[in-house]
Amino acid sequence: MHTEAWQSVLQEIDNTRSIHLRDAFAEDPRRAERFTARAAGWTLDYSKNRISPALMKRLVEWAEASNLRGEIEAMFTGQPINATENRAVLHTALRNLSGEPVLVNGHDVMPDVRAVRERMAAFCEDVRRGVWRGHTGKPIRDIVNIGIGGSDLGPAMACEALKPYAKRSLRLFFVSNIDATHLAEVLRQVRPEQTLFIIASKTFTTQETLTNALSARQWLLGRLGGDTAAVARHFVAVSTNRQKVEAFGIDPANMFGFWDWVGGRYSLPSAIGLPLMLAIGPRAFERMLKGYHAMDKHFRTAPFERNLPVILGLLGILYANGYGAETHAVLPYDQYLARLPAYLQQLDMESNGKSIDRQGQRVRHTTGPIIWGEPGTNGQHAFYQLIHQGTRLIPCDFIGFCRSQNPMGDHHEKLMANFIAQTEALAMGKTAIQCRAEGVPDALIPHKTFEGNRPTNTLLADELNPQTFGALIALYEHKVFTQGILWNIFSFDQWGVELGKVLAGKVLEELKAETTPPLSHDASTNALIMRLRQAQGRT
Ligand code: F6P
Repeated sequence: MHTEAWQSVLQEIDNTRSIHLRDAFAEDPRRAERFTARAAGWTLDYSKNRISPALMKRLVEWAEASNLRGEIEAMFTGQPINATENRAVLHTALRNLSGEPVLVNGHDVMPDVRAVRERMAAFCEDVRRGVWRGHTGKPIRDIVNIGIGGSDLGPAMACEALKPYAKRSLRLFFVSNIDATHLAEVLRQVRPEQTLFIIASKTFTTQETLTNALSARQWLLGRLGGDTAAVARHFVAVSTNRQKVEAFGIDPANMFGFWDWVGGRYSLPSAIGLPLMLAIGPRAFERMLKGYHAMDKHFRTAPFERNLPVILGLLGILYANGYGAETHAVLPYDQYLARLPAYLQQLDMESNGKSIDRQGQRVRHTTGPIIWGEPGTNGQHAFYQLIHQGTRLIPCDFIGFCRSQNPMGDHHEKLMANFIAQTEALAMGKTAIQCRAEGVPDALIPHKTFEGNRPTNTLLADELNPQTFGALIALYEHKVFTQGILWNIFSFDQWGVELGKVLAGKVLEELKAETTPPLSHDASTNALIMRLRQAQGRT
């Protein structure tokens, strides 16, 4: 990152540091137009950022000098850019609707991708039409997805986002936590004879998912008279690991596969999207892929100065590395996108939460930010105070739609009035002079003054539909990719989740041991283990 081109960026940041957004807008009547870009049904207004034309130019030059263009091509053409796992990164092939082949080691993956999607579609049609029947001959009404991380967050978020397109008679549930409460509360609501369990796990080795799946299997067999033949009618699997699926007792005929070149957090458009396809149907699913594909094409071909993912990536780096911002808020003004921040937490933080560069050295710069957020307007009555008047700089993405899926009175106008007003307030602030003119007593003026100059991106589309949804997710995927390249880190592995898993295995044995095990942890860990053992009547 520490190249000449980056030094020029830093210099230009210094030139813009003293400019307030209030003045920037006053001085340039074309500012909004100048800093607006469009793609795949989305308009990005990034004019309320601490940028100037010169700074944007330097940032784009830096991206070019960092070979971002070459890296994008390497991803789309199946090079093994996930170097620490020696894998290609080809989630874009899952939504490649161009008819062009995509090669991995000389093999075109597209026929396999299409074949799985066709099997998914046939299965979903059968379930949706009531042709697929449970063990006792009844149609499926309740679908329980058991998975975690990328095998949960994507489909759970998407089923919520695209609810208006869903078959409402099918009820969708998601179980992820190994805490039995999660599963137990879902099982209380579903009807065994009419329930389909989707066991979703890329590796099919994940403790949470396998534990929940086993308990679900036991529950189902218990309710349906113990005939193991019932499993074939009530359990399907989504995985890359056929052997483990078979070993678990699920017929491979009921398995939908994907490939090691699809990262878990990028897997929604793969078979991991099965619950979504069941909910919205194969045609709407295809429209979602169209949206993804449109954004993919834009990312691959548009000049960086008009490239939405690149612009978002560069702006994020401006604040993280130029201003020391530690977090980034995502604020969807649409209740259907309530789970988007949680989904983006994995996408962004598991991808770019790294401190070792691609040469194996400790980075000397800040990398991935903390991602957080809540749907508007709820956040306004909770944490916006800190964004407006706190001591930290928090760049925000405001995401909204011109039309509501649920037009009712003037709700939508009110929602969008807040959406627009917040970015205005954050950028423009309110001066002491304005306060005084309103008659605010002197003692209160410092409290009622808003510094402003707080950066926001506004992302606006006509409506939330499968296409705009797909495009939005691809936009964030490619933003994360852009930042990973520019920070010179590997975005597609997640070694940081391993240590805790290994230690949990050891602690589990110690918690369950019949007699007091010799404990060799630190004193705090030893005491916690003993406290738990005592609570369970073990010494
Ligand atoms: O522990 C992290 C992780 O490996 C994620 O990257 C992944 O999405 C999740 O676990 C679930 O993994 P799997 O789909 O293999 O069960």
